Amino acid sequence: MHLESLELLNFKNYEEINLQFSPEINCLTGNNGSGKTNMLDAIHYLSLTKSAFNPVDSQNIRHEENFMVIRGAFYKTEKPEIIQCSLQQGQRKVVKQGKKQYEKLGEHIGRYPVVLIAPNDTDVIREGSEIRRKFFDSILSQIDQQYLQWLLQYNHVLKQRNSLLKHFAEKNTLDRDLLEPYDQQLLHFGLLILGARKEFLNEYLPFFLSHYQNLSEGKEKAEIRHESNLEVEDPAAELSRSLRRDLALQRSNTGIHKDDYVFEIEGHPLKKWGSQGQQKSFVIALKLAHFDVMRQHKGYKPILLLDDIFDKLDDHRIARLMELVSGHTFGQLFVTDARPERTERIFQQLPDTEVRVFKIEKGKATILKDA
Ligand SMILES: Nc1ncnc2c1ncn2[C@@H]1O[C@H](COP(=O)(O)OP(=O)(O)OP(=O)(O)O)[C@@H](O)[C@H]1O
Ligand SMILES: [Mg+2]
Repeated sequence: MHLESLELLNFKNYEEINLQFSPEINCLTGNNGSGKTNMLDAIHYLSLTKSAFNPVDSQNIRHEENFMVIRGAFYKTEKPEIIQCSLQQGQRKVVKQGKKQYEKLGEHIGRYPVVLIAPNDTDVIREGSEIRRKFFDSILSQIDQQYLQWLLQYNHVLKQRNSLLKHFAEKNTLDRDLLEPYDQQLLHFGLLILGARKEFLNEYLPFFLSHYQNLSEGKEKAEIRHESNLEVEDPAAELSRSLRRDLALQRSNTGIHKDDYVFEIEGHPLKKWGSQGQQKSFVIALKLAHFDVMRQHKGYKPILLLDDIFDKLDDHRIARLMELVSGHTFGQLFVTDARPERTERIFQQLPDTEVRVFKIEKGKATILKDA
């Protein structure tokens, strides 16, 4: 799959732009703040109907404007598939495939997969468990619509159960009959989700380990473990046991919304023990495994977006990554770099590859090189 063209109207610092891409490698060069990352973000937006960086949708509209449009032509076969995301200030966003508007944005998720590797990705290691659950849930939701539905239903029940706990606390009462149906639903969807997460990790892990091995040249042993407080002999009893605590804290403490993925190197927690280089390699391996799993499920290669990745890697690791690129492991690739000479040096060695280099300046783009 590849993105043939992209049109932006009032998206972040782009007023109006229309670009044609290479189906293979696209390099976006330009000074800090010129709009390189924003361009990748627009592609991310087309795929996942949201920004990878700014969750407040209205802030993705260009300052002083009241609407934005992102439109792209994807090719999976011979025929273009036009995706358009548009947003008017104060209204709901609209996503269309051709002329048809999606009723639910969830239907679109996973149809045009992208994998983004960006500098802030190490958050997935350093921050709390929520960001790790989100990382894996996002992949799972893109390969399994059923999983996404379970997750939405689970979150809905969780919210209702928490409101009920709050209500009990405020009124200083407890009505177990009222709580019972919520507990059942929470367990029902929770156990389905737990099973899917375990199964998914089994599939994902070999890809991850192989990439980590490759990047670290087999010197370090990495591990990912999934932990859940529902993973006990009697989950229902566990849920009842935590009721007193739930009431005291006015929120549910048992369930898959507390799951975590533990990242380790050489048996030690990566967060505390991993060097910056090890953490970066871990994250890149996580993302490349994301790519592999998507490719396996979709039957075509996702678009890979590499934001400032060269800055973060030593020459050794860049060489490893370039082996993957030149071996055509990846499909279409978008790479940003503030230093055009470095990008050219890295990519000019690639034989038989269509490389297009863009220079981005204050929301405008020109083609520097087309080979
Ligand atoms: N809604 C918006 N309206 C106008 N400008 C915006 C909006 N959102 C972000 N910007 C601006 O877009 C500019 C370009 O950001 P971007 O992150 O794409 O730069 P970059 O080329 O990737 O820079 P760097 O090399 O530092 O990574 C920033 O200066 C930012 O302030
Ligand atoms: Mg940037």
